[in-house]
Amino acid sequence: MTLLFAFPEQMPLAHTLPAPLGEWTWRHFPDGESLVQVHTPVSGKDTAILCSLNQPDEKTLPLLFLARTLKDLGARKVTLIAPYLGYMRQDIRFHPGEAVTADLYADLLSPYLDALITIDPHLHRHPRLEDIYRCECTVLSATSLMAQWIVQHVAAPMIIGPDQESHQWVARIADEAKAPYAVLSKTRHSDHEVDIQLPEMATRQHVTPVIIDDIISTAGTMIKTVELLRDQGFSTIYCLATHALFAGEAYTHLQAAGVTRIVTADTLPHASNGMAIATLLTPHLG
Ligand code: R5P
Repeated sequence: MTLLFAFPEQMPLAHTLPAPLGEWTWRHFPDGESLVQVHTPVSGKDTAILCSLNQPDEKTLPLLFLARTLKDLGARKVTLIAPYLGYMRQDIRFHPGEAVTADLYADLLSPYLDALITIDPHLHRHPRLEDIYRCECTVLSATSLMAQWIVQHVAAPMIIGPDQESHQWVARIADEAKAPYAVLSKTRHSDHEVDIQLPEMATRQHVTPVIIDDIISTAGTMIKTVELLRDQGFSTIYCLATHALFAGEAYTHLQAAGVTRIVTADTLPHASNGMAIATLLTPHLG
């Protein structure tokens, strides 16, 4: 079985997985440089690093140091399990002179990895992860977990996708939960400001809206959608997402917008976690 090296904040998730844990440490010298040390023998073994890549800048160097050290010490295979894979949204140059960081970050990580496993990466203009990551790629999805959660908790759900990107997840969830769905159109003006068009839903007052997104970051997208639904008379509204990024005060702002419940998968540890990804990852730890 794969020997799992978990980053500190993923230890709770690591303990829900059936893989044996490898021991490693990451400390800083007084001048701030990182020192990574592997304590468990890895020669000839398949290894995996469990590290969600939110706040990726601070995690990337130790991640690369660990991946290369596992290889140096004889590991047969080094897989990165990044339940949340960062740097996927900047997949084109939106404004002149900007870096296309989705491609650059993939270029940086790929040489250190034999394989990459992730959940609901923000694949939009790059349809496949293999288009940018040059290693074996496995893309898992939390859509089944969401569909199951909805079936168990929401009577007469209507699945709402706040933007075109969400269509891929929303259609699958609606199909599995046997619910109707609508995909809205969103224009982003800045990091925090979005405009969303919600069609008139007067004839739909018998349904309970469940808004689905891959990521909640500033929560601007969710909050705007909740406000539009409330303006149309809906008072019970659920927000479900795979990745609970919640920048700054985003979580309290979304709660204050009048949401009945916010539920996320545990790709990132957060108070809103209510869907366990262990069942998705376990078959890949053989
Ligand atoms: C964007 O295309 C994504 O699917 C999410 O809608 C977006 O990342 C959410 O960001 P925020 O919470 O900042 O509105």
